[in-house]
Amino acid sequence: MTSKRAGVKGTVAANNRREELTLKELVAAHEKWRGRTTLNLLASENVTSPAVQHYLATDLGRRYTLPLHQSVEGEIVDNGYGGTRYTDEVEALAARVTARLLHAQHAIVRPLSGHIAAMAVLSSLLPRGARYMAVFPPDGGYDGYAPGFLPAVLGHQVLPLPLHGPTHRADPDELAAYIRREKPNAVLLGQSFFLFPYPMAPIAEAVHEVGGLLFYDASHVLGLVMGGRFQDPLGEGADVVYGSTHKSFFGPQGGVIATNREDLFLQMDGAMTWRTVDNAHWNRIAALGQALLETERAGSAYADAVIENSQALARGLDEEGVPVLGKDEGYTASHQVFLDVPSLKQRYGIGPTTFARRLESQDLIIDLVGRMGTAEATRIGMGPKEMRRAAALVRRGGLESANVRGEVRTLRARFRNLRFT
Ligand SMILES: Cc1ncc(COP(=O)(O)O)c(C=O)c1O
Repeated sequence: MTSKRAGVKGTVAANNRREELTLKELVAAHEKWRGRTTLNLLASENVTSPAVQHYLATDLGRRYTLPLHQSVEGEIVDNGYGGTRYTDEVEALAARVTARLLHAQHAIVRPLSGHIAAMAVLSSLLPRGARYMAVFPPDGGYDGYAPGFLPAVLGHQVLPLPLHGPTHRADPDELAAYIRREKPNAVLLGQSFFLFPYPMAPIAEAVHEVGGLLFYDASHVLGLVMGGRFQDPLGEGADVVYGSTHKSFFGPQGGVIATNREDLFLQMDGAMTWRTVDNAHWNRIAALGQALLETERAGSAYADAVIENSQALARGLDEEGVPVLGKDEGYTASHQVFLDVPSLKQRYGIGPTTFARRLESQDLIIDLVGRMGTAEATRIGMGPKEMRRAAALVRRGGLESANVRGEVRTLRARFRNLRFT
């Protein structure tokens, strides 16, 4: 080897070692900061139990299984891979508990996220050219259902499902009349900004009368729904419920789908493989099974505590002078709290981005679009007293640009052990 080539090889190796160290340091710094130091008031996140973490790191995360139920060389096979005797059981267990918690006959746990679950439901149950109604982003809906995203990918037409006011309330008579007039193939309930349950019966009646399907995206509220709170989508008339498993539900990142209709289940299950999912990440599914079993044991107490905390946080913010929405309606019935963004601008001359950035500099994490959540704070054991204290820190850090980092860290440090495991 010439000395020039040896020199290049040495530089590459040194660079590789430096980057390996950088990676290690980045992950460790993240773990310390987001995992142990900051107070997380993001509505979309949660923390998982040590048992869930354990399953995520197991050998299952390196294996393949491919449920086929089809003929290969004249022989009906259940799986395209060998060595799946335990993974298949793990999947069946997680699906069984999902179905129990959602009051369903059938469940699918293979979607890799809430978005993929939505894609699996919409692509398998609605043909190209179908028309459905969904809540649009200005009314708190998920951006993925806006024209240009999932509808464009799947060849669907989407109509806005109108809601009212800053807390995004549904008028059941108005929606029922609109559904009867437009006769969509499906109606999709569920929001990213989601404070209150829907009056579902009149909506379900109207959509079924016109021969359509009712879907419920429970991504944000799945932990509350599985804890028996907020609402029971299938019991109240939805044909399919689905959502993310890592927001108010304290599982690994992923998605689930459930239904009581065998015909819909067979259609969705049969269309999963090679359309929306291939290998489904079996470590995630084992971890999901664990989180589901934790929910079965402690989910109602958890959901009650989350809702109590979000109401306490909203009230505390209001009393501190931080503008929040929904006072006349009890603020919230979910894990979320909405900032009153126009009032924030009018009274304090700042937008939600500046507000959130100021808080992040003080180790208080909220999103940049005017929403907070209490799922993670509840899981680490905080109660209404801590929410009241957090509200004061939010006011001082966010409105007054005060240095509250030390107080945030001291508060966070008192909560080391997870509850509801
Ligand atoms: C209502 C709703 N549906 C679906 C999703 C997508 O979920 P995921 O991030 O798990 O893909 C989100 C994400 O925020 C959401 O708010």
